[in-house]
Amino acid sequence: MNAVPRPRPPRAARARSPLSLLHRWVAPDVFDFWATRLHPTWTWERPLARIVGREAQSRDAVTLLLQPNRHWRGFRPGQHVNLGVEIDGVRMTRSYSLSDAPRADGRIAVTVKHIEGGRMSRHLCQDARIGDVVDLGQAFGEMTWPQGTEGAWLFLAGGSGITPLMSLLRAHAANGLPTALTLLYWARNRDELCFVDELRALAQRFPQFTVHFVLTRERELAEGEHSGRIGSEMLSALVPDLEQRAVYACGPGGFVDSARTLVASNARSFSAEAFTPPPTSIDAEAGGNVEVTLAASGRTLSVPRGQSLLTALEGQGLKLASGCRMGICNTCACGKVSGTTRHLHTGDAIGEPVSALRLCVNAAASDLVLDL
Ligand code: FES
Repeated sequence: MNAVPRPRPPRAARARSPLSLLHRWVAPDVFDFWATRLHPTWTWERPLARIVGREAQSRDAVTLLLQPNRHWRGFRPGQHVNLGVEIDGVRMTRSYSLSDAPRADGRIAVTVKHIEGGRMSRHLCQDARIGDVVDLGQAFGEMTWPQGTEGAWLFLAGGSGITPLMSLLRAHAANGLPTALTLLYWARNRDELCFVDELRALAQRFPQFTVHFVLTRERELAEGEHSGRIGSEMLSALVPDLEQRAVYACGPGGFVDSARTLVASNARSFSAEAFTPPPTSIDAEAGGNVEVTLAASGRTLSVPRGQSLLTALEGQGLKLASGCRMGICNTCACGKVSGTTRHLHTGDAIGEPVSALRLCVNAAASDLVLDL
């Protein structure tokens, strides 16, 4: 298919653009360096955001309210973003789900759970202050509201899987909750649940919305709470009309796998997102090293066979772009010119060239040439 040429702005308009003139003389990095000294989020084209609010959301989760600069292109409910910060001189990037619906003031919210041993989540939950500036990636993710939301829905949230579902629910509520929606939300303990008061208030306000909190480690349960892991008996009791519902499930890999097994063939439709880091290596490829040639930089490195390529190349001192480190955001993707890789989640081997190989969830199974 032939590409349709984009109309160019009139010559006079092009000539008048101050940035187009400046671009000839100043590199964007240099511009950003000086501009951020005048205002912390002024940049040439790089999206940045300033923390303008923070609120404890549960025992171990905090919601940060961010004001993006004008280079951020917005999001659809259910999507995620990469946030980048410098911690002890090391720049780190991780993916977080947006938890609010789009707001009139353009601000966005992420709800961050403190992960044991996670430097970035600890920084955002404990150390980040109002006024701090973070790098902001463009939004990504496909589990958003479809064009038509007709028919009843079921959301299954495991732990921090509630965040993108909360964004979808808030957007749905802002439209008057036009279709029936049931949310089943699992946590280990009551004090790990987020958004409890708001969820209860929404259930009071909209009879077509029902929320069930499911706690796996609490002995005493309050009204509206249940106990146990996801199972067919619980689902038939709480969602007797499952076959009429479209289902979104979000949470750790094991939770999403169980949901898929129990629900996918019985529901009207099923979509899921799992937040699970891949295994660091796979046994099938254990042992020995392979050579990875970086075509663009002309280097050849020896890395362990079967180990995540992102981890293996970082272990060789390479500074690579990354975000979720779970195969969702595409930030780490690069071209593979030749060689065989194996997917760390599925075990599938790919011997053909690939235009966007996600380094975080693929390991080398043979010598490789990468477009890096
Ligand atoms: S870092 Fe997100 S896909 Fe690899």
